[in-house]
Amino acid sequence: MAGELKTALITGASSGIGAAFASILAQQEYNLLLVARRQAKLEALAGELAGNHGVTADILVADLAQPGDVERVEQKIRLMPRLDMLVNNAGFGTMGHFADVELAKHLDMIHVHVIAAVRFTHAALPGMIARKHGDIINVSSGSAYLAMPNAVTYCSSKMYLITFAEALAKELEGTGVRVQTLCPGFTYTEFHDTPEFQDFKRTDISKGLWMNAEDVARESLAALDSNRAVFIPGRKNRLLIGLSRTRLGPILLGALAKKRWKK
Ligand SMILES: NC(=O)c1ccc[n+]([C@@H]2O[C@H](COP(=O)([O-])OP(=O)(O)OC[C@H]3O[C@@H](n4cnc5c(N)ncnc54)[C@H](OP(=O)(O)O)[C@@H]3O)[C@@H](O)[C@H]2O)c1
Repeated sequence: MAGELKTALITGASSGIGAAFASILAQQEYNLLLVARRQAKLEALAGELAGNHGVTADILVADLAQPGDVERVEQKIRLMPRLDMLVNNAGFGTMGHFADVELAKHLDMIHVHVIAAVRFTHAALPGMIARKHGDIINVSSGSAYLAMPNAVTYCSSKMYLITFAEALAKELEGTGVRVQTLCPGFTYTEFHDTPEFQDFKRTDISKGLWMNAEDVARESLAALDSNRAVFIPGRKNRLLIGLSRTRLGPILLGALAKKRWKK
């Protein structure tokens, strides 16, 4: 019975990594609540997943840069009779010096990446702790470790999610609730298709550094059992981010931020 299945809420489920999480979780027989702004995309995915996997797939159209919409999703979470998995995945990038990018974009990004994730986690935890069961995945980025120019708010808001999970995981030890911040590297999604990235070419980045969204989501879910608060998918990404934290970091960053991409 679909009503007895586990339930997952995924933000940013209308494309990319969020859609991949939705698809894999439907295969694992989770009922779904899919959140994003693009209603038509959410409806198409929900219809496909419900039809193919016999789960229920509901949608909630919300702009997570808008406080009212964030509160609406938060209230929904508080009222859900069960929530087994929360994936805070919605996100976007900007390109340009901090002072040149309009303030509203920075604030929107902090809302989508940080405020929404904090509010949804806070709303989900009491029920999960009471049921002694639940998983929370926050989608950050490997670039948080690189503290990159032209992506100041992106990197710093994503770093919030890393520290958030590292500290929260310690508080949640023994509760049955697991938290993971996922730090993907370059992933084939719609992320780089916005006007912000018109000067960015995927081919500027070595093909071997790209992953597909399905592999990112699958590795993340598989890593939950390891109870790692922070998970970097892909061996090459783990190596690169490990190196970036040594004295080789600045050289690596220079190689990645090619002139064309620097603005
Ligand atoms: N692709 C990469 O190389 C990469 C690398 C590291 C980390 N990440 C992270 O992975 C996550 C998913 O991104 P993606 O790569 O899958 O890109 P994507 O295909 O562009 O997906 C982004 C998702 O976030 C949603 N979203 C964006 N702004 C939103 C808002 N204001 N309110 C509600 N939803 C919003 C989008 O839905 P709507 O437009 O329908 O609202 C979409 O579903 C992001 O947090 C991103 O920072 C991506």
